[in-house]
Amino acid sequence: MARTPLIAGNWKLNLDHLEATHTVQKLAWLLRDAKHDFNEVEVAVLPSFTSLRSVQTLVDADKLDIKYGAQDISANVSGAFTGEVAGSQLAKLGCDYVAVGHSERREHHRESNELLAAKVGAAFDNGIVPILCVGEGLDVRKEGKQVEFTLAQIDGALEGLDAERAKQIVIAYEPVWAIGTGEVATPEDAQEVCGAIRGRLTELYSAELADGVRVLYGGSVKSSNIASIMDKPDVDGALVGGASLDPDEFAKIARFRAHQVGL
Ligand code: PGA
Repeated sequence: MARTPLIAGNWKLNLDHLEATHTVQKLAWLLRDAKHDFNEVEVAVLPSFTSLRSVQTLVDADKLDIKYGAQDISANVSGAFTGEVAGSQLAKLGCDYVAVGHSERREHHRESNELLAAKVGAAFDNGIVPILCVGEGLDVRKEGKQVEFTLAQIDGALEGLDAERAKQIVIAYEPVWAIGTGEVATPEDAQEVCGAIRGRLTELYSAELADGVRVLYGGSVKSSNIASIMDKPDVDGALVGGASLDPDEFAKIARFRAHQVGL
């Protein structure tokens, strides 16, 4: 099955709503100029909650093909949960995607696999596709246990998820030691774990389902390394942090196919 690659920019705690609008405008302009085919390679940005309304307004008004989403979602529906943002609120803002379980949230907010399974469910309840982030830290990598560690995260976060939903999920393999460090995993490192993730989806669901799920790589992705990572059979896109803040660089990443044929 042909999987449409997804290049998603995780802006983290950067850009106010004016900067966000400007960045999306510039990105759209660059991609339009380059005749980017969004049906061939999907492009999305994940701004802060405070920028979502502005991004929605711009995307709607200018009929942009760029998709957008949030960096987190509450596991709760409504009520006394100060500071949380519900899936229904994100859906109302037209969010296509939401990142769930980014390593920074697992680390700084102690998000457990159980909570993440609830967040995955909350996203689907509202018609939003979760981008479930998984990946090992340096200590685990040094022990050579990256595959089993990452698959245990998959098992935990997909607990109770039915096939109808599982077939739509996006999984991002992001080795923690490669995030924001400039230390990019080799294409072979990325393939090893992304392939193992697809294998686990086959065991949990079916080969057909696993074949259709997009598995992204994330961690120090740049325009200079995206093409070789995307050459790997089980890598279906990238979750890009730092490099997604620069529209020129991010547009080049989205146009990785042009680098692959040496353009
Ligand atoms: P990075 O971040 O591209 O800056 O390494 C990736 C991520 O955390 O999603």
